[in-house]
Parts: sequence; structure tokens; C-alpha cells
Amino acid sequence: MKPLPREFLPESPIIIAHRGFKRLYPENTMASFEAAIRAGAHMIELDVTLSRDRKMVVIHDDTLDRTTDGKGLVQETDLKEILKLDAGSWFDSRFKEEKVPTLEAIVACCGRRTFINIEIKESAYETEQRPDCIEQQVVSLIQSQKCGHRVLISSFQPEILFRIAKLDSRLLLGFLTEETDAETVFHFAGKLDLYSWNPEAMSVTEGLVQEVHSRNIRVFPYTVNSVSQAKALVEKKVDGLFTDDPVLMIQGLNCFRQ
Ligand code: G3P
Ligand code: CA
Repeated sequence: MKPLPREFLPESPIIIAHRGFKRLYPENTMASFEAAIRAGAHMIELDVTLSRDRKMVVIHDDTLDRTTDGKGLVQETDLKEILKLDAGSWFDSRFKEEKVPTLEAIVACCGRRTFINIEIKESAYETEQRPDCIEQQVVSLIQSQKCGHRVLISSFQPEILFRIAKLDSRLLLGFLTEETDAETVFHFAGKLDLYSWNPEAMSVTEGLVQEVHSRNIRVFPYTVNSVSQAKALVEKKVDGLFTDDPVLMIQGLNCFRQ
């Protein structure tokens, strides 16, 4: 199996904080990522897409409606308008100062302190590859910040991963899937040098984990919020998992950071 980068913490499973410490903080905000790091998560996960003026913004949904006080499509809103929005009050008024972060801000702030899983949203994929496409911008940022050894790039859209691999073959890639579709996973595993398969947790079986491991690919299921489910997955030999509550998982699985 492909070795973990040296800096990756050795213990298994790796606890990946899904959109930060999503259970207690507004997702994909600086407060949420800072809390996840404080909690001892081994890696933070975030979602990135493009604004209308083609800046990389960290937000899960295609629209601003659910997680900010704004409205409309992210991709039809300029960054300067997005940055004015309140990205915390929808969760709790204590977080009214939280903003939608840029990817640049998160990498600059957290890139030397933790591992980052950058999920590139399918909404940002453009059939025609432009010079400032999201894949190019993500790679340029990682290269300029020299943090490639601490980043896992994932997507549900395999074409995004193909582009990343072409731009910088050293970067670690994770293929996200929603359902058990072993055929698809193995098809892309044959064409892409995948670091991990990040499946929906319910679709994981011990047999699949074994098969994927035999192709030197790690397995990080999402999103696991009960300790009993996490323990069952650990028995199936997964290498890590995404959770909304890193404290619960670290304590429940007894995998404290060394
Ligand atoms: O990367 C795991 C998970 O984040 C994928 O689903 O919808 O939460 O982005 P979603
Ligand atoms: Ca995500």
C-alpha cells in the first residue's frame, strides 16, 4: 500500500473533521476549522467552488441561501459581495461574525498546522478547461504555499481528479462516491493514481475494503457520527473516516493525536 506521507500521523483511523467541527460550529467557517484543529482532528475537510469573478470560496451548497444571510447562486455572486455575508447566524447568533472564507485564507491559516482535504465541488467543473479553472487555481495555491504534502484533493467528479493529476502528479487524490459501485471505483482506480476512495459510509463492506486495499488505495468513509458505526467500520479495516464531531470520534475510538 502506498505509504502515508511521513508527516501524516501514524495512528489509524484518521479522524477527518467534515466541514470543520460541523456539529458545534457553522460549517466551512474559520471558527469551525479552528475548533476542529483544537479538538485534535487529524485532517479538516472543506468544500470549494468558484464565485462569479472566479475566486475560490469555501462553501458546500451551490447557493448562498442555507448557510449565509444572502441569496442566490454562489457562481452568480462576486467575491466582494460574498465576503459581506454573515455565514454564522443561521447556526447560532454567537457566530454572526463568521464569513464565507476563501480557500486562500484557510490554506494560509491552517495549512501548516493540519492536513486539509479540499473537496472540489462538481458545480465548479467546466467542460472546457480555462486557464483559470478551479483545478489550476487549487494547484497553483498549493504550490505557492508549499503545502502539497499536507493536502488531499477529492471530488465526486473524476474529470476534476484527472485534471489535477495532469497539473501536478505528486498531489494525493481521493475519489468520492455516493453508492456502492465497485465497478466505477475500480474503473477509475485503473486510470488514476488514487490515494483514497471516500465512499458513503453505508456502502462500505469488508470485502470492498480488502479489494480497494489490494490496489494500494486507502478507504475514508463519510459521514460517521455514531461511535458504534465508527467501530463497525474500523473492524472492516477502513483507514479513517469523516465526522461532524471529531471529539466524539477521537474519544470513542481512542485515537488521540500523538
Ligand atoms: O468528503 C466527504 C463529504 O464531505 C462528501 O459529501 O456532501 O458533505 O460534501 P458532502
Ligand atoms: Ca464535502
